[in-house]
Amino acid sequence: MRGKFITFEGCEGSGKSTQLRLLSEYLDKLGVDYILTREPGGSEIAEQIRKIILNGKNTAMCDECEALLYAAARVQHLKEKIAPALDKGKLVICDRYVDSSLAYQGYARGLGREYIENINSFALERFTPDLTVFLDISPAEAFKRKHGADPDDRMEQLGLEFHTRVYNGYKALMEIAPRICAVDCLGSKYETQDNIRALLKAKGVI
Ligand code: TYD
Repeated sequence: MRGKFITFEGCEGSGKSTQLRLLSEYLDKLGVDYILTREPGGSEIAEQIRKIILNGKNTAMCDECEALLYAAARVQHLKEKIAPALDKGKLVICDRYVDSSLAYQGYARGLGREYIENINSFALERFTPDLTVFLDISPAEAFKRKHGADPDDRMEQLGLEFHTRVYNGYKALMEIAPRICAVDCLGSKYETQDNIRALLKAKGVI
């Protein structure tokens, strides 16, 4: 039986990495057969593409190039790592996936949903996540917790206005995709982790 495919989404500084680390410790304890991976990246070639996309020096990169590079990294990662793990019946947990492209490139960059859906048709048609966990915290709150953006990260440098558009993009996606479930993450990291575990249990993932 094909394994379940769960993705995590959120704005910059939403605490995704911390939450995924805590979740991974829990899954280890439960003895779940899973892999934890991330986008952009997750395979050797996709990690090379990641470096090009995020390189703070690549200020001349146009929006379409950015969107296509994310899509290219994704399809490589899917074929090389995600699909084989799902075929083996493993639970696959991915830090960001196609909803990031829809929110960042589709909504915030303004390329539109249709363009992003088209260039990601392989991912959307054959590998739609069973569940997407959205860590729901506004960029204004998240930036306060994170103490500012990383100057070497091209995406983080984009400022509050851009990231608010990303957040609104996620909110719009939630209206049309019931698989995306918001998790309140305004409490402590342990409270947020409890919310995530409760959601995964309620959805029959663990
Ligand atoms: P990363 O350092 O992994 O950020 P985070 O810890 O917030 O997940 O960098 C990934 C960046 O790429 C992040 O700013 C979100 C962005 N991104 C897109 O714009 N489109 C995409 O399709 C993906 C996967 C990520």
